[in-house]
Amino acid sequence: MLRCLLRGGCGPLFWVWVLLLPLASLHRLNQHGRREHNVKDRPKLLLVSFDGFRWDYIYRVPAPNFLKLIEEGVKVEHVENAYITKTLPNHYSLVTGLYAESHGIVANEMYDPVLNRSFSMETDSIYDSRWWEQAVPLWVTIQKAGGRSGAAMWPGSDVRIHGMYPNKYLQYNASVSFESRVEQIIKWFSAPEEEAVDFGVLYWEEPDESGHKLGPQSTQMDKVIYGIDEKLGFLINELKKARLYEKVNLIVTSDHGMAQLSPDKIIELDQYVSRDLYTWVDKSPVVGILPKDAKLEEVYDKLVDANQNMLVYKKENIPQHFHYQHNIRIMPIIIEAREGWTIVQNRSSPFMCAYSNLLHVCVCVCVSVCVCVLLSLPTIAFISS
Ligand SMILES: *[C@@H]1O[C@H](CO)[C@@H](O)[C@H](O)[C@H]1NC(C)=O
Ligand SMILES: *[C@@H]1O[C@H](CO)[C@@H](O)[C@H](O)[C@H]1NC(C)=O
Ligand SMILES: *[C@@H]1O[C@H](CO)[C@@H](O)[C@H](O)[C@H]1NC(C)=O
Repeated sequence: MLRCLLRGGCGPLFWVWVLLLPLASLHRLNQHGRREHNVKDRPKLLLVSFDGFRWDYIYRVPAPNFLKLIEEGVKVEHVENAYITKTLPNHYSLVTGLYAESHGIVANEMYDPVLNRSFSMETDSIYDSRWWEQAVPLWVTIQKAGGRSGAAMWPGSDVRIHGMYPNKYLQYNASVSFESRVEQIIKWFSAPEEEAVDFGVLYWEEPDESGHKLGPQSTQMDKVIYGIDEKLGFLINELKKARLYEKVNLIVTSDHGMAQLSPDKIIELDQYVSRDLYTWVDKSPVVGILPKDAKLEEVYDKLVDANQNMLVYKKENIPQHFHYQHNIRIMPIIIEAREGWTIVQNRSSPFMCAYSNLLHVCVCVCVSVCVCVLLSLPTIAFISS
């Protein structure tokens, strides 16, 4: 963990764990019967994620609330997201301290050959505990140590994991406004001493959603980013109003960055390999491919040199530094699009909706992959108080 300090690049994980260390040690004291004494002084932590918040967004529009928070706190200079840079794997990394290969949420769309089940972030399969139980999220760890936690829509936080939910949580519902999520969190932190939470997680879908629709380089994104800054301002103001701002450590971060795509940069797998030979498990920019029985070599051979804008790996050859290999849910073949490129089966595949009218300027985007250093390190994290 300390290695990142030396290299000058600590992930948000690092900061979450740094802030939680004192929390853990207090709880150790608690077990020796000093709980009463400590409840009031327990350090508190609120972890906030704005999905898909690229590191440079705060520099392209006025972002007074972000800048003020940075000034009062600490800004991490360099963040490396966990591979693959998608929403579920990275949000679970943030609350488990583990790479995806170790926590088991290896993608947004998965297949587990032992369970013989598929998982998709778009379906109720996310409520099947077995997907999440290769690791223990912080809210469970904290509760087992005698603390209390509250979760407002953080991925996985409304799923029963190792027999537990957060003490307080909201059922996932994308229509619930950021402001009501904040109000809930504030309520939980400011409850009477024995009821109050020590650790809170708060998730917001933007600017990811707009980024995917508009493209991170679109000028229309400016308004969205400015809106996020206002939301941060709202959060800080509510914390102050509830007299929590001085008491609660705050980490603001994100799960991944975003790279601009182009309708001229599309790779159609159908041109290279028949769909009959494999199942498409997870989508671009890192595609999970499950070859049909005994078709691994054939599928790999057809793809490996097919297109210079994609990198094709057999599972055992995925570069070590990605820490993305040792899990049965990682597919036998993964294909990584080079930055700016999109992999689809053909141009009418569902993911292509944003390109349906090619006369429009490019309006589709996706997360960037880790290998693309400049755009993918992005993510911000800072700590106040
Ligand atoms: C896996 O599940 C599918 C149905 O979803 C079923 O058709 C198939 O037989 C199962 N495979 C095994 C090996 O159990
Ligand atoms: C989701 O939230 C919206 C807005 O608060 C509400 O109108 C809707 O009923 C909720 N949906 C469910 C399924 O609870
Ligand atoms: C493209 O894929 C869709 C399904 O995603 C299929 O219905 C359609 O026939 C395919 N088109 C071509 C030209 O292969």
